[in-house]
Amino acid sequence: APRFLGLDVGGTKIAAGVVDTDGHIVERVPAVPCPAADQDAMLKAAVLLIEALRSRHPDVAGVGVGVAGLVDWPDGRVRTAPNSAFRDAPLRRLLRDATGLPTVVDNDANTACWAEYRLGHSASYMAFVTVGTGVGGGLVLDDRLFRGGTGIGTEIGHMIVDPHGTERCGCGTIGCLEPLASGPALARYATLAAAGRPTGHLAAGRRRVTGEDVTAAAQAGDPAARAQLARIGHWLGIGIATLVNLFDVELIVLGGGVAGAGEPLLTPVRESFEEYVTARAHRDLPDIRLTRCGPEAGWVGAALLARDGLCVPGPQA
Ligand code: BGC
Ligand code: NA
Ligand code: ZN
Repeated sequence: APRFLGLDVGGTKIAAGVVDTDGHIVERVPAVPCPAADQDAMLKAAVLLIEALRSRHPDVAGVGVGVAGLVDWPDGRVRTAPNSAFRDAPLRRLLRDATGLPTVVDNDANTACWAEYRLGHSASYMAFVTVGTGVGGGLVLDDRLFRGGTGIGTEIGHMIVDPHGTERCGCGTIGCLEPLASGPALARYATLAAAGRPTGHLAAGRRRVTGEDVTAAAQAGDPAARAQLARIGHWLGIGIATLVNLFDVELIVLGGGVAGAGEPLLTPVRESFEEYVTARAHRDLPDIRLTRCGPEAGWVGAALLARDGLCVPGPQA
């Protein structure tokens, strides 16, 4: 039976694996660090991963790639990427030429959204928000992945939420959600809060605090870490309120590394969302839930896009 290979090309790492026609994972490879500053090196790393997996799964029928950036659909050209070197890269054509395999290339949050929709949750109107190095979005409307006119829609990380703020986004703009609610933002908040605090999980004087440190400390019950996650949650709730105001989705799924924090993120997101969504007393509030596919959603969803485009009748992305 045919198998499908998926890649998730992020800002810091590339994750990959293989699924069968039911979407079950048959192999996953440990994520490799991604030479994000070098477009050619990223391309080479992707080709190497594809060739390595393919040598172990000769029945691979197609490749799907999710990329952290603005990707034309169905062309698979990466126009730009706020957190990596991709600029006007015809990734789909390059990978297809290098491997000879049918290939689809889409935005990483779109692919992750598709995994959640196909394998995790079944809502005809749902949004997916990924919170990691960047903040990204995917939208399923009427059981289809919404891509806008060219494919580069649903960039919710660049929703303007604080135009009079001070943080400049990787995209160049001040006011985007991403620099206020990403993993790096979490690290920044915690580093600032730790200055002057001599003890505890996130005390000053230790090595540079990362987003992972904060989510781990929050899960261990550290109140300071929970407070920093609440700041992220505050901004995410604002972005999600706008998503719901605009699209009336019934479900929002949170994924990405920071979502690994679980409840200490989810609760402040819900609170903020309920504060800002319009007509809250006159609508059914949508569910806001954590990812079911976890950190693998991006590459699994990419593989499923390849599968659904090539051989499975039913919902088409
Ligand atoms: C990019 C998106 C991407 C998101 C998550 C953002 O910076 O603009 O395209 O989906 O990060 O990786
Ligand atoms: Na998207
Ligand atoms: Zn931005």
